Amino acid sequence: MIRSKDIRKQFISFFESRGHREVASASLIPLSDPTLLFTNAGMNQFKDIFLGFRKEEYSRVVNSQKCIRAGGKHNDLEEVGRDGYHHTFFEMLGNWSFGDYYKKEAIIWAWELLTGVWGFPREKLYATVHDTDREAFELWQKHTNIDPSHIEFHGDKDNFWEMATTGPCGPCSEIHYDMGLQSCNRRGEKGHKCKINGDCHRFIEVWNLVFIQYNRQEDGSLKTLARKYVDTGAGFERICQILQKVQTNYETDLFLPLLEEISNLSGIVYPGLKDEMQTPLAAAQYDGMSHRVIADHIRALTFAIADGGMPANEGRGYVLRRILRRAARHGRLLDLHKPFLYSLVEVVIDIMGDHYQELREKQAHVQLVIKSEEERFNLTLDYGISKFEEIAAKSDRMIPGKDAFLLYDTFGFPLDLTRVMAGEKGLAVDEAGFRKEMEKQKQRARDAARFTMSWENIDWIELKPSRTTEFVGYHQPLVETLIQKYHIDDENNVGIVLEKTPFYAESGGQVADTGRIYNKECEVRITDVHKDNDIFVHIGKLVSGQINQEPVTAVIESELRHNIARNHTATHLLHKALRDVLGNHVQQKGSLVNPDYLRFDFTHYKQVNERELQMVERIVNRKVRECIPLETSVKPLEEARKEGAMALFGEKYSDKVRMVSIGDFSRELCGGTHLECTGEIGLFKITAESSIAAGVRRIEAITGERAEKYVELLENEIDEIARSINSPRRDMQEKINRILEENRRLHVQIKSVRIRSADNQLDKILKKVPEINGIRVVIARIKIDSQNEMRQLGDSLKEKIGSGIGVLAAEIEGKVALLAIVTRDLTDRYHAGKIVGNIAGIVGGSGGGRADMAMAGGKDVNRIDEALQAVLKIVRQNDQKSP
Ligand code: ALA
Repeated sequence: MIRSKDIRKQFISFFESRGHREVASASLIPLSDPTLLFTNAGMNQFKDIFLGFRKEEYSRVVNSQKCIRAGGKHNDLEEVGRDGYHHTFFEMLGNWSFGDYYKKEAIIWAWELLTGVWGFPREKLYATVHDTDREAFELWQKHTNIDPSHIEFHGDKDNFWEMATTGPCGPCSEIHYDMGLQSCNRRGEKGHKCKINGDCHRFIEVWNLVFIQYNRQEDGSLKTLARKYVDTGAGFERICQILQKVQTNYETDLFLPLLEEISNLSGIVYPGLKDEMQTPLAAAQYDGMSHRVIADHIRALTFAIADGGMPANEGRGYVLRRILRRAARHGRLLDLHKPFLYSLVEVVIDIMGDHYQELREKQAHVQLVIKSEEERFNLTLDYGISKFEEIAAKSDRMIPGKDAFLLYDTFGFPLDLTRVMAGEKGLAVDEAGFRKEMEKQKQRARDAARFTMSWENIDWIELKPSRTTEFVGYHQPLVETLIQKYHIDDENNVGIVLEKTPFYAESGGQVADTGRIYNKECEVRITDVHKDNDIFVHIGKLVSGQINQEPVTAVIESELRHNIARNHTATHLLHKALRDVLGNHVQQKGSLVNPDYLRFDFTHYKQVNERELQMVERIVNRKVRECIPLETSVKPLEEARKEGAMALFGEKYSDKVRMVSIGDFSRELCGGTHLECTGEIGLFKITAESSIAAGVRRIEAITGERAEKYVELLENEIDEIARSINSPRRDMQEKINRILEENRRLHVQIKSVRIRSADNQLDKILKKVPEINGIRVVIARIKIDSQNEMRQLGDSLKEKIGSGIGVLAAEIEGKVALLAIVTRDLTDRYHAGKIVGNIAGIVGGSGGGRADMAMAGGKDVNRIDEALQAVLKIVRQNDQKSP
């Protein structure tokens, strides 16, 4: 039987002998393309060449590309294992022409390799071409001996290949293989007919020849590229399946050793494996799905982690975590309760390590990462399942958010696992409630991080003679090491000093990492790290077991670290952009960099206005899009200064300093942890600008997902406003102006109506005015809205009363307003200011004014009537006193 590694070699040498240069597979983690979760096709690494942004080194290349399609657009993670050909990880064999040969050679060579070198029977091969591509149709007819009735035209859906919604694309010609009637999984179904691009498993696509000639634009239109390209992709696992004459990809030598090892470990044999291993269970009911899931997933995990991926709570890391947890859960179905996935890494490397050298180099790391992730998941899964049952039993229709969060936080259940398990019981999950709990948790974590101890006069338990701590965290998230000494108190709060650590200790404004230190016997959660000269003290809580002398694994929360790095790198960009926009007097005065946001204090003498802030934001975001790689170097201080590195005023530096450069744009002396390239920031958004001292301003900003969420929130608010004023967004401003205008108009109207009605009140009152000693005295409580209106009413009263005294009272915005008038003919006997001043005391206020007109205020609205009655008394007494 021909081995897979020979098949791969044959493909590559076939094209090498036709002038192609073999290039290495690109990393599965496409750091420079944030639109891509994982590398998902051979052509990804050549995208810039197709678009004319980069000049190629060779005009013909060939390789085998590692691909992952799990998450994002092509997400069939849940499908994997159900059949024999869906995978998360697979290899794509490809040959490319960059403006060199085109359709004819691509077709001829594919045919030659398949039928000549590999001996595929011509009667089993079919070719499809795009509806509009007569040229390709004729090339197939003229230059190959394919059965002409086996060439078919198909539409865009199957024969127009596009990388994504935008980018390089073109018509394609696919080669399909007839697996024979026995492979049809719908045999006997009424109305079913096996056909190319049909809905059964009989015909499988083995090779896609794409003739790239367009760039799909944002608006959906096609722009013709300057040159024409060939981009092909052959499914390596499928070709192996055909050449090794087996029924599914899993029976090829790419997977078989994995299935065997899983059978050995579990004692449950993969159906169809050699008879001496056959168990009754396997033969009777089991179709092998869990074996397939595990075999598939361990390949994806091994390759992705070797390329720098890490299981985490977000993004790529989250996809990896889901893959690992899915494999671990299938392990449970095979009764594997201890970590076992990590032990399959070796098998993957045996199979593929010759071609993918990086696997051997990273073996220890990959195993460590997988094992610790498995341990973490296992530890909690058993409890979690019984806890879930308990919760489900008492839940009515819906798993409460609090419980879903408990499962997540304490038992490591991803939300979608809870969703699936709840779904099986016909229950929903309160996801909004879950998110609320998540937010609370973050706050608690922040508070907990403030827990500190004094580390000086403390009883250390020494395990190894102490030296200094070696910091390895610039490059590794995790390390195996020994505990030098530790301290523990009655409440299990601990401080640990390690030989090596990946934990960054708070310094230069960057907060410390959080994470775990653990071995078989114990686990400590680290919430803070202090650095005392070169000794790092890891502060946290012992959550299980006893601290011991055995080697420990120290691992940081990579996702948090990554968010910290986003904010730290953004701080450097911000610093430089501020100098560019405001001037070189801008000096850093302080900063805070944590996973959630950044804060930057700097010297500047006045407020940074909106236009300036916008310019700063634009500069930073442009640098983000340029995806500039960060470089660090250690060099003498003088040299760094000469190269223009910004140093912090007042900071002490040793003679050798670490310089962080972002291309030519920014150079700073800095010990912090940064991104690999600025593009990982994603988006930079300033959220606040303020003054914190004379001549010192503060800017707060966010990055990455936070910034995205922030924009989303703003969008939602705008939508909400648009909805509430019942207007489409684009007409909102106009509509608001209209509403404001109408509002103003109504105000004027209401005011005049109110005055008129108060006037009417007056008229009524004036019809029956009591006289005291021959003087008409009006007292009235009226309804008005402002002092101004009151004054107008006062004037009107003066006019209408002819001769007399009037006092008006009203309640305006919860307070008392008083007004008194005395007509000119009486001002020698009565004084409006005095009257109003007198009665204001009753309502807890004061006031005064002219003899003919005065106003006062007060607080006690309950005593307004009493105050008014007092007027009558005053007039009476005053008159008696007068001459
Ligand atoms: N880029 C083409 C594909 O992925 C070959 O199918």
